[in-house]
Amino acid sequence: MATDRNDPTGFEADIKPLFREKDRQAMLRHFDLWSHDDVSRHAERILARLREGTMPCDHAWPQEQTDLFQRWAETGSRE
Ligand code: HEM
Repeated sequence: MATDRNDPTGFEADIKPLFREKDRQAMLRHFDLWSHDDVSRHAERILARLREGTMPCDHAWPQEQTDLFQRWAETGSRE
C-alpha cells in the first residue's frame, strides 16, 4: 500500500541500478540519477516522464520497473 513506510525497497539496492551510465550522463545537467537526494527531490517529475514513456529517450521502461520506482517514491524514498 502506498503509505507503507515499512516497504523495504531502497535506493542503493533497488532503484539506482535501474539507471544506466548513459541515463546519468544525459540527465546530469538537470539532476544526478545516481544520487538518492536528487532522485527523491525530483521523483514526481521523473515518475511523470517514466509513465508517459518519454524518458529514457531511447525506450520506455517496462511497467513493473516504473511501478517499483513509484512504490519507492511513495513509501518514503528510503536510501
Ligand atoms: C531513466 C532515465 C531517465 C530519466 C528518469 C529521465 C528523466 C527526465 C526528466 C524528469 C526530464 C525533465 C527535466 C525537467 O523537468 O527539468 C528529462 C528531460 C530530458 N531528458 Fe531525460 N531522463 C532519463 C534518460 C535520458 C536519456 C537516456 C536521454 C537521452 C540521451 C535523455 C534526454 C533528455 C533531454 C534531452 C531532456 C530535455 C528535453 C525534454 O524535456 O524532453 N534523458 N529527463
